[in-house]
Amino acid sequence: MRKALVAGNWKMNGTINDVRELASKISQTEQDKVDIMVAPSFVYLHSVSETLSKTNIFLAGQDCSEFDQGAFTGETCADMLVDLGCTHVIVGHSERRQFFGDSDSRVAAKARKAEIKGLCPIVCVGETLEERDRGRTIEVIERQLCAVFKVIENKFVIAYEPVWAIGTGKSATPEMAQEVHENIRQCAAVHSHVDGLDLRILYGGSVKPDNADELFSMPDIDGGLIGGASLDSESFLKICRSAAELVN
Ligand code: 13P
Repeated sequence: MRKALVAGNWKMNGTINDVRELASKISQTEQDKVDIMVAPSFVYLHSVSETLSKTNIFLAGQDCSEFDQGAFTGETCADMLVDLGCTHVIVGHSERRQFFGDSDSRVAAKARKAEIKGLCPIVCVGETLEERDRGRTIEVIERQLCAVFKVIENKFVIAYEPVWAIGTGKSATPEMAQEVHENIRQCAAVHSHVDGLDLRILYGGSVKPDNADELFSMPDIDGGLIGGASLDSESFLKICRSAAELVN
């Protein structure tokens, strides 16, 4: 049985007051059927960590370095995230792959470093529109997954985020997402050490309160990684409620 997980990726948004207020509103929910997580910008992690300290909401970094520590200006290492109360870290987000050159092998190194340091990696995979149009979706995703499966030994979460659906308002249809999620589960069963049935696979890309129900009704969608809609506490909590009711 897989418990639903809904994670808000706040990306590079908000002021300190905005994120404190958002965290405080989210923390007022009582949900035991869904795990809730937020990933604020690094600079606000400490403050959000304090706001969430007496709750069971998980805290995640949006990325981490593949290195332990040292002269890597601008980077944040996994130990620092643990220090601030993070339990999870997002790696391989398409924005990191697209704008900051994160290759499959670097994403794998980051995921491995995270798990060594005690963080659960949330590994993002997804195809571009061109790759989908050429019928290469599954091939691209298997390549991204296998790079990580080769090095990882503990528990992880996968987030399927089609690049063309992120921030565009154009979500994958539930059937499209289900098809890819089913493939991810099979790929994990064959190529990773985890039992595919235990693996939590989140969908991300323009998830909103109005499409959450249909997405979360799909058998292999275990929750969501939410961008824009996670910046509004009401929308985010509605999505969490959908997941609590419909996942599994
Ligand atoms: P949107 O929900 O804004 O499309 O972003 C999805 C995402 O990138 C979450 O990581």
